[in-house]
Amino acid sequence: MESNKFHTQAEADVETKTTFSPSFSLTASATFQLATVVAVLGVVFIYLKFFRRANIQAKDAPPFIPSQVPFLGSAIEFNKNPVDFLIRMKNQYGPVFTIEMAGKKFTYLMGNEASSLLFNSKNEDLNAEDVYAKLVTPVFGKGVAYDVPNDIFLEQKKMFKTGLNIARFKEYVPIIEQEVRDYLTRWGDKGEIDLFEAFSEMIVMTASHCLHGPEIRSILDERVAHLYYLLDQGFCPEAWLLPSWLHFLVPKLRRRDAAHVEMKKIFYAAIEKRRASGNKGEDMLQTLLDTPYKSGRYMTDDEIAGMLIGLLMAGQHTSSSTSSWLGVFLAHNTEIQRQCYEEQCQVRGTTFEPVDYDQLKSMRVLDNAFRETLRLRPPIHVIIRHSRKPLNVCGYTIPANHSVCVSPTANQRLTEIWGEECANFNPERFMENDGLTSTESKFCYVPFGAGRHRCIGESFAYLQNKTIWSVLLEQYQLSAIDEFPEPNYQNMIHTPSKSVVRYEKRK
Ligand SMILES: *[C@@H]1O[C@H](CO)[C@@H](O)[C@H](O)[C@H]1NC(C)=O
Ligand SMILES: *[C@@H]1O[C@H](CO)[C@@H](O)[C@H](O)[C@H]1NC(C)=O
Repeated sequence: MESNKFHTQAEADVETKTTFSPSFSLTASATFQLATVVAVLGVVFIYLKFFRRANIQAKDAPPFIPSQVPFLGSAIEFNKNPVDFLIRMKNQYGPVFTIEMAGKKFTYLMGNEASSLLFNSKNEDLNAEDVYAKLVTPVFGKGVAYDVPNDIFLEQKKMFKTGLNIARFKEYVPIIEQEVRDYLTRWGDKGEIDLFEAFSEMIVMTASHCLHGPEIRSILDERVAHLYYLLDQGFCPEAWLLPSWLHFLVPKLRRRDAAHVEMKKIFYAAIEKRRASGNKGEDMLQTLLDTPYKSGRYMTDDEIAGMLIGLLMAGQHTSSSTSSWLGVFLAHNTEIQRQCYEEQCQVRGTTFEPVDYDQLKSMRVLDNAFRETLRLRPPIHVIIRHSRKPLNVCGYTIPANHSVCVSPTANQRLTEIWGEECANFNPERFMENDGLTSTESKFCYVPFGAGRHRCIGESFAYLQNKTIWSVLLEQYQLSAIDEFPEPNYQNMIHTPSKSVVRYEKRK
């Protein structure tokens, strides 16, 4: 297939402005960003000045954390290091407290009891669409996810769930393995590599091949990867803070919209091709074509395309971040890396037979290393809902119209649950208490969320991660170059601020 076919004017405009760089390089866009921030502050300021009602703190409202900074509130301090800030506030004010940032009220629920409110509430009370639709719908498209009533979204998730089954998983392992082997041929014997960039590229291909199917995988080239990148850039604070009708003011949100249109065209063509071929695939595209809603209606091509974009976005992002953090941890903890490699030798034999599904399940050390990575660096660092009515928790009443938040990162680093050494990378902790499944702490390990909004991709995520790492560990040894990197708190997903490591082929 000729890949230039989809190259349109809109996208050509786009390409002159940014080059493909999954590492979110800031340099070129710094001025844009600054301008946007100023614009956002302006809007917020006007909003506050003219529209905000006097706010009277009810007696049983959660403690309110004052800030000296007008209208930005605690935002500056929060952004320096959200996790430390939250834990400090919890120690000072207790498990439920409210902070103000950019004119919005955020009520944080810390620890197991408080967090249970967010995970157990009905969507009508603590609502997800109110928070996420504005951010997600322009990227995924209309008719899916947060753009539809929650019961329809749940039906859509259920379709995905039936598509992610063990029979398919067994077929996916060799596909992923082959993709990774092909990818790694470009590494050579030794060198330095930016893990986040490498995993972003690798995972787009593995996930797309398994979930979207061979038609879409075959047209995945740099240009399509670039479209993903532009869509991805739509997940930014500006999209969230500005009302949708002002999004056109921000250049990267205009690029997001152009990329969305292009991406859909590509998917329509792939859907058409599958239908025309009369073949059935072992992938999510097939599931979506074949599964009706409860009402008996089948999805339109537009909805299917939106679901496929959503599927990749939900996985890709989070995956590249998690895998690069694991890489960074292993590069800095050579002893644990050695244990992971030994396990590969034990499970797969020193001749390294092809990876298979059952072997993956017995890689306990690697599994624990992932869990521990997800504990310290969960890709989604805050889960937010909108309170549509007042809600009671821990003796307080949270007023309506607050953004109610649980931070997986903060909950997963509470000393009362995880011990004094909780900031250390220690996969062995999962050997003893098997990931803390006790009921007193189940909401203190929530890298995949919990309750009705829980991530359905967990088992695929582990499958993909472990297959990729199995091949990587077999072939290469990693070592650290720089100091251990800080998380990049400016992004919505806390990627490593620097993820370049050294690699060397094993003899
Ligand atoms: C790795 O696992 C994390 C969570 O387990 C998940 O978010 C991510 O998608 C996975 N990465 C890959 C490469 O599948
Ligand atoms: C919450 O917001 C809605 C919509 O903006 C408004 O109608 C309602 O009065 C607000 N409720 C409270 C308690 O502020």
